[in-house]
Amino acid sequence: MLTHPVFNKRLIARSSVLAACALVALFLVQCSGGGDSAVFVIEPLPYHQDALSPTISAETMGFHYDKHYAGYVKKANELTKGMGFAGKAAEAVIQATAGDASKAAVFNNAAQAWNHAYFFKCLKPDGGGVPEGLLAEMIDSAFGGFVDFKSRFITAAKNQFGSGWVWLVLDEGKLAVVTSANADTPLAHGLIPLFTVDVWEHAYYLDYQNRRVDFVTAVLDNLANWDFVAAQLEKTLPPKA
Ligand SMILES: [Fe+2]
Repeated sequence: MLTHPVFNKRLIARSSVLAACALVALFLVQCSGGGDSAVFVIEPLPYHQDALSPTISAETMGFHYDKHYAGYVKKANELTKGMGFAGKAAEAVIQATAGDASKAAVFNNAAQAWNHAYFFKCLKPDGGGVPEGLLAEMIDSAFGGFVDFKSRFITAAKNQFGSGWVWLVLDEGKLAVVTSANADTPLAHGLIPLFTVDVWEHAYYLDYQNRRVDFVTAVLDNLANWDFVAAQLEKTLPPKA
């Protein structure tokens, strides 16, 4: 079939643009470590990287989000490729690989991807203060008051040996403070995470050096997003009639 030369040129030009777009899309997918089987996505920060300063500096947030968190997401996607997790939630990958020594690398990267995304959502500029409503009532019931909860949380952070996380969780309907080592997460132990602070040194060393307690105290005082935590708690309740 013959076609007009001008039409051919347009067709070639259009094809070239489409091919270029396809290459760019493929490049972006490859950069995320994903492809159509990617389970994990890099969740956007709900604030600018410098918005938590001076409690957490822009430099710390830059390394933490762009290097550590993004690295875990990329690695988790690479490791889960071909494992049959396509279309599954990140939580399902964590629960399916927890406790399986042969899948430790998958679990570690998947859990770290989830833990970090959750941690970043637990913070906000001009946060801190005290919780209200049901969350406040449950903190009073479980710990004797917010001051006692805070003390319990900071002590747990101090006593966590090495890298890990400190959590406020829901354990069979009651609030509890727990710690997890390295990448471990309450999701792997039947607990419902509500609030967390990352106590890996990369979370605070640039700003606080070895003063972990100062870091955790400052996060509770200035950044804790109790509205987000209260919303997570609400999700665990049966729907109102
Ligand atoms: Fe971290």
